[in-house]
Amino acid sequence: MLDIFLRSFWFGEGTKSLVDNLLIVAVDETAYDRCRFLRLNCFRLESDGVDDFGGEKLYMSNDFIKMMWTRTRFLLDILKRGYNFVFTDTDVVWLRNPFTKLSNNETEDLQISTDQFNGDSWSPENQLINTGFYFVRSNNKTISLFETWYGRKDNSTGQKEQDVLLDMIRNQGIIGKLGLRVRFLDTLYFSGFCQDSKDFRQVATVHANCCRSIFAKVKDLNAVLRDWKQFKILESSNNSSMVDNHKWSVHEACWNSWKG
Ligand SMILES: *[C@@H]1O[C@H](CO)[C@@H](O)[C@H](O)[C@H]1NC(C)=O
Ligand SMILES: *[C@@H]1O[C@H](CO)[C@@H](O)[C@H](O)[C@H]1NC(C)=O
Ligand SMILES: *[C@@H]1O[C@H](CO)[C@@H](O)[C@H](O)[C@H]1NC(C)=O
Ligand SMILES: *[C@@H]1O[C@H](CO)[C@@H](O)[C@H](O)[C@H]1NC(C)=O
Ligand SMILES: *[C@@H]1O[C@H](CO)[C@@H](O)[C@H](O)[C@H]1NC(C)=O
Repeated sequence: MLDIFLRSFWFGEGTKSLVDNLLIVAVDETAYDRCRFLRLNCFRLESDGVDDFGGEKLYMSNDFIKMMWTRTRFLLDILKRGYNFVFTDTDVVWLRNPFTKLSNNETEDLQISTDQFNGDSWSPENQLINTGFYFVRSNNKTISLFETWYGRKDNSTGQKEQDVLLDMIRNQGIIGKLGLRVRFLDTLYFSGFCQDSKDFRQVATVHANCCRSIFAKVKDLNAVLRDWKQFKILESSNNSSMVDNHKWSVHEACWNSWKG
């Protein structure tokens, strides 16, 4: 997965130089060693109660949920140190520099991707957020948000951190309470398998969401990179009707990952 992630920076538009700005946070020794071998910026994240997150943590297993909370705590720590950052899962491929599609308005505290975009960037109604990709600015409001979020760790049985944040937004009005400005990102630009971007000319990232296993994600993300390379060929041949009709491959391995 890490290799596909990195490969996307190579094939993407304006993404090569961003690799220097990546901090790879590894939760197991194998990923950490691989990161060091590639001479990237690497950080080994240790976690409470689990020795090593080595091996696949299937979606919603207990270790999966623990791993997700560990990451929220880590990201809170970064915010407290005053850094703005883009968080990305490694199952997100970067096809364009996301900063060309993110707002640079400093009053926007959080810009977060969605599984399903409701059509209105400012309305939390029916918005299915995805915590696998977002841009957050460090300030007192976002620190409070992450503190409140992490504070719910021991009172959210069977919910992963994303469910808890969604609950805070939908049912507890956290955005209004903290006076946050939250932009929900359109899947046209920040897309995924749940809802494909409708336009190869606009897409910045593709997330292997709505997918259960690493095996399936790897398979279908490789297909995304193939689709992208094909798009680049069509684009350079100036055949706009071919570009318009270019479609993403069906995410077959991912659909099948839920069966059985
Ligand atoms: C940022 O957004 C706010 C609220 O919409 C607006 O008042 C302000 O003019 C914007 N700032 C810039 C630099 O565009
Ligand atoms: C954030 O909170 C700290 C501590 O309460 C305070 O010193 C600081 O001025 C606040 N910063 C802003 C931008 O409100
Ligand atoms: C746990 O969550 C419930 C429902 O959101 C709330 O009523 C209760 O006060 C919480 N308990 C603690 C210890 O935070
Ligand atoms: C495609 O169009 C661009 C700009 O119109 C032009 O510079 C380029 O030579 C064209 N390429 C081909 C293969 O026709
Ligand atoms: C674009 O490609 C299609 C299919 O190969 C072809 O039928 C069409 O004539 C091409 N159009 C242009 C403007 O080259």
